[in-house]
Formats: sequence, C-alpha cells, structure tokens
Amino acid sequence: MPAVTYILHDGTRRQVEVADGDSVMQGAVNNMVKGIVGECGGGLACATCHCYVDEAWAARVGAPTGAEDEMLEVTSCERKPTSRLGCQITISPALDGLVIHLPEHQF
Ligand code: FES
Repeated sequence: MPAVTYILHDGTRRQVEVADGDSVMQGAVNNMVKGIVGECGGGLACATCHCYVDEAWAARVGAPTGAEDEMLEVTSCERKPTSRLGCQITISPALDGLVIHLPEHQF
C-alpha cells in the first residue's frame, strides 16, 4: 500500500500505509492521526479535513476545483497555495511517499 507521511502542526511525523483508492482524510482517520477530523465523512461539507500538500508533491496532487475550491474559503486555519481538502485527494500508487502537513486546528 502507498505510504503517506502526515506532519502535525507541532512537527510530529506519522507515516502510515493508506489503501489504494482511500482518501488522505480516510488514511488519517483510520490510523488515528491527530490534526484531521473529516466530520462529514468525505461529503465535501465540513472542511475539517483541511491539509497542506508538501510543496514537492503539489504539482502531482493537483489543484482543487469547483466545490472543493469554494469549501477551502471556509477553513478554520489560513488557506495557503497548497491547501487541499484531504477527502478529495485519492491515494494511488503514484502518490506513494506523499507528504501532508496538517494545520494547527480544524475548528
Ligand atoms: S471530510 Fe468533510 S469536507 Fe472533507
């Protein structure tokens, strides 16, 4: 399974394996990674899965579009150029090694 490294706001790093087809949000929640909530379960309705894609991965992950782009305007922490909603990033073998930074809070 692809490995994803989550870097918490305090610098703590957690590397976990995420099933192909699962989202960055699901990978965090399933492995009890702090700093990401996913309150709406991936329905694009809460923005509590806000994350910052590591700059080295930003081009490969891509930019938000449509409803995700709109939801990123209501995140609890500052939106940055690499902001994404974790529930909208689907893990695949091409993202093996992905690095995700988590904001200080989600509410
Ligand atoms: S889990 Fe609610 S918008 Fe991503």
